[in-house]
Parts: sequence; C-alpha cells; structure tokens
Amino acid sequence: GVAAKIAPSMLSSDFANLASEAERMLKFGADWLHMDIMDGHFVPNLTIGAPVIESLRKHTKAYLDCHLMVTNPLDYVEPLAKAGASGFTFHVEVSKDNWQQLIQEIKSKGMKSGVALKPGTPIEEVYPLVESENPVDLVLVMTVEPGFGGQKFMPETMDKVRNLRQKYPSLDIEVDGGLGPSTIDAAASAGANCIVAGSSVFGAPEPSEVISILRNSVEE
Ligand code: DX5
Ligand code: ZN
Repeated sequence: GVAAKIAPSMLSSDFANLASEAERMLKFGADWLHMDIMDGHFVPNLTIGAPVIESLRKHTKAYLDCHLMVTNPLDYVEPLAKAGASGFTFHVEVSKDNWQQLIQEIKSKGMKSGVALKPGTPIEEVYPLVESENPVDLVLVMTVEPGFGGQKFMPETMDKVRNLRQKYPSLDIEVDGGLGPSTIDAAASAGANCIVAGSSVFGAPEPSEVISILRNSVEE
C-alpha cells in the first residue's frame, strides 16, 4: 500500500513558539508538518502566509505540507516556493479555470502539488486533475468545513475517500479535520494514508501516543 504520513496541523500549536512546536512534533514522530494558510476570504479566518513559512524553514528541514485555503492560490505559488514550502495544496472550488497552470507552476518550482475539496464538493471534480498528463501528487479530502481546528469529523466524507482509493490504488489521499484516535479507523479503512491532526495531537497529554495510534491504524 501507500506509506502513512502523519501530519500534525500547526494551526493547533502555539504560533508564538512555532519553531519549538515544530521540533517537538518531529521528535514525537510526525512525518510532515501541516501548515494551514488562510486569507480571510475563502474561509472566515486568517492565519499565516509565506513570511511565516520562510521563518519556520530556517529552523527545520521537515516537509512543510501547505494547505491553501485562499481564493487566489496562483498568487501564492512563487512566494511559498521561495519561502521553502514542500507541498502546495490548493482548493478545487477556486481553481476550475487554472488548475493546469497551478499544477505546472507548483511542480516547476520544486514543490509537490495537491488538490483539496470541501465536504460539499463532489469527488468527480478532482478526477481530471488526477488523470491529467501532469497530475496532482495528492488529493486532500476535507472531513470538516475548512477554516477552523477542533471541529467534528464528518463520516459521510468517507465515501469520497473510498471512491478515490478504489480508482487510484497508489494515490496519496489526505484527510483533514476531526481526526484522532476515535475517528482514525474510519479514515484508514476507507483508504486515507496522509493524516492531518490538530487538536487531537496538540491537546493530548502525550502527543507521541496519539501519533503512533494514527500511524498504526493506517499501517494495519
Ligand atoms: C481546518 C484545517 C485543519 C485543522 C484541523 O480548516 O484545514 O488542518 O487545523 O484541525 P483538527 O484536527 O483540530 O480538526
Ligand atoms: Zn488543513
């Protein structure tokens, strides 16, 4: 199968101590660091952008998995590449006309490309991006409405994960929102292999235990 990637969402970290929070998560066994970039327009919340990624990059070599909850993702490709982002995942809802250009520019700047979809967006909308001659490297199935950490996992989104896994056996399929020890089995058995988890990891007394529970469930 496809390798498990456990990606703590730094949205749940102490942003004032981002470097030490990142270091702590890597020590606890994280594979990737999930970075939620929001513009206050695509979602009703505002977080970080390229300057913060650039600052964090000076403190870590980790894979920075950037999730762009923004209306104009193309504007962020060059700044994020320069800042040291590793993965760039844009939303399909705002990329109907320029996804080919987005994938091309993301990859040409040395980043991995991903496409995300909100809970209400039909899975068929990402097929062309996966089947393209220049395809995305990852599909991110949102398991909550994007914008905030700490929301409840939506089990109905698992139909989309199952559908993707059946069609694309080796695709990286990421899930994001409400994942933790009580919801990971649903996501893992549906076929997700990249697991984003914010509040369940940062809120745990022993984050390393939560990270290993998530990993073991995916690798089972
Ligand atoms: C939500 C973000 C998520 C969020 C997940 O819009 O995309 O990455 O941080 O947080 P939890 O795991 O707490 O749902
Ligand atoms: Zn996210």
